[in-house]
Amino acid sequence: MTGVDGPGVGPHPQPWPDDERLDPELLAHGDHRNVADRYRYWTVEAIVADLDSRRHPLHVAIENWGRDFNIGSVVRTANAFNVAGVHVIGRRRWNRRGAMVTDRYLHVHHHDDVEAFAAWAAGEGLPVLGIDNVPGSVPLEHRPLPRACALLFGEESTGLTPAAQAACEAVLHITQHGSTRSINAGAAAAVAMWAWAIQHT
Ligand SMILES: C[S@@+](CC[C@H](N)C(=O)[O-])C[C@H]1O[C@@H](n2cnc3c(N)ncnc32)[C@H](O)[C@@H]1O
Repeated sequence: MTGVDGPGVGPHPQPWPDDERLDPELLAHGDHRNVADRYRYWTVEAIVADLDSRRHPLHVAIENWGRDFNIGSVVRTANAFNVAGVHVIGRRRWNRRGAMVTDRYLHVHHHDDVEAFAAWAAGEGLPVLGIDNVPGSVPLEHRPLPRACALLFGEESTGLTPAAQAACEAVLHITQHGSTRSINAGAAAAVAMWAWAIQHT
């Protein structure tokens, strides 16, 4: 599949490598997708298969009641950290703009409500950790995070709903030092995934 959505590489010089992971269309016309250089000319299916072979046991979930524009950003960061799955809770449709097509390369699941997501996590044996600065939350900094877990984020407008907070083993906050009440959900998700990554990768 050819896509012109960023800088990339032009047509591959002949002779083409004999590698079934490579897409003849991309070899012929160039690869301008937003992918790491090692995946240049690979088919989407081959990239997903390679990522699947080494995904981290981290899941991220976000409530989606108003098609929060941050969800795309969360998905893009989740792709960068090669998480096992992204879970959209609430409305099925989500604002894909910030994802920059990265959702093609990971597994996005939908749950109708928090209870359904919590039941799924329990079935997988995954602790759910909320990420929000609500009363009763504890600092994320320096806190050991389970290797296999699900991090749950709230929406920009409402934060973690009471139902979501109730589903969490603990709610963790990123300590802030300025005057704003909160950082945006996409930024918070990036900080939290990085906090997990520095402990487990
Ligand atoms: C704009 S915040 C809103 C909620 C916030 N509790 C408030 O009092 O305004 C939206 C989401 O971003 C994330 N978030 C923002 N700031 C955070 C922080 N300092 N620590 C952890 N999560 C944060 C949370 O997932 C939160 O649900």
